Amino acid sequence: MSAPASDRVLLITGASSGIGAATARAAVADGWKVALAARSTDKLSALVDELGAERAMALACDVTNEAQVARMVQAAADFGPLAAVFANAGLGSTRAGVEDGDLDNWRTMLDVNIWGLLTVVHHALPHLRETRGHVILTGSNAGRRPIKGSIYGATKWFVNGFSQNLSAEMTEWGGRCTLLTPGMVDTPFFESPKPDALRAEDVARAVAFALAQPSHVNMDEMRVTPV
Ligand SMILES: NC(=O)c1ccc[n+]([C@@H]2O[C@H](COP(=O)([O-])OP(=O)(O)OC[C@H]3O[C@@H](n4cnc5c(N)ncnc54)[C@H](OP(=O)(O)O)[C@@H]3O)[C@@H](O)[C@H]2O)c1
Repeated sequence: MSAPASDRVLLITGASSGIGAATARAAVADGWKVALAARSTDKLSALVDELGAERAMALACDVTNEAQVARMVQAAADFGPLAAVFANAGLGSTRAGVEDGDLDNWRTMLDVNIWGLLTVVHHALPHLRETRGHVILTGSNAGRRPIKGSIYGATKWFVNGFSQNLSAEMTEWGGRCTLLTPGMVDTPFFESPKPDALRAEDVARAVAFALAQPSHVNMDEMRVTPV
């Protein structure tokens, strides 16, 4: 049985597919209102239709565009008290290795995985301070161990370090920060299916668990890997 509905809003970036979309479904089942952000407005609209316009809203946003991020955060806060932000938008490498890597792809990855994530958190914090809210950052198992030549992994090492520094800042006013570090998940992140990987729903359950903790409990890291 799902929890009673409330007005609290969870803002999810990267909500148009994969982990973000699965988390939106889990969060609405747990009684959250969700503000769903991504660039693919068709996919967001379909998800809002599925979840219901009273509990879900779509926000077109490229997280690398600060003006769009500022508008997205304000629109989410206008939907209800902004109590949690899942900064989840991200993408991977097109070519492996440092010597063989694609510099344009690196710049896009840095823009989305680092700059976009920082911009979202920067604009959300004043609202989260009001609600003593919760930030969940999508890092990766690839940001917890060395991977030969991986620039993607390096962007997720940033998320790992940033989560600890952000957590220390948010703790001063009773806020919480959770680092999510999934192993391989079968999502459109990959061009081909990954049958032995986690499902997006598996990761969404971990996010829902972290969000469901009472206000004196912080899950500072949720590492989820396939068996
Ligand atoms: N799949 C894995 O094995 C795995 C493992 C560990 C961590 N992760 C991380 O999990 C997160 C979600 O990935 P996923 O596996 O769910 O892949 P996905 O299905 O490809 O989802 C990626 C999401 O990021 C959004 N996005 C990409 N660029 C964006 C931009 N510039 N502005 C706004 N949104 C943008 C995409 O939406 P639009 O294209 O519609 O904008 C999409 O909703 C990523 O941070 C990824 O690094 C994935």
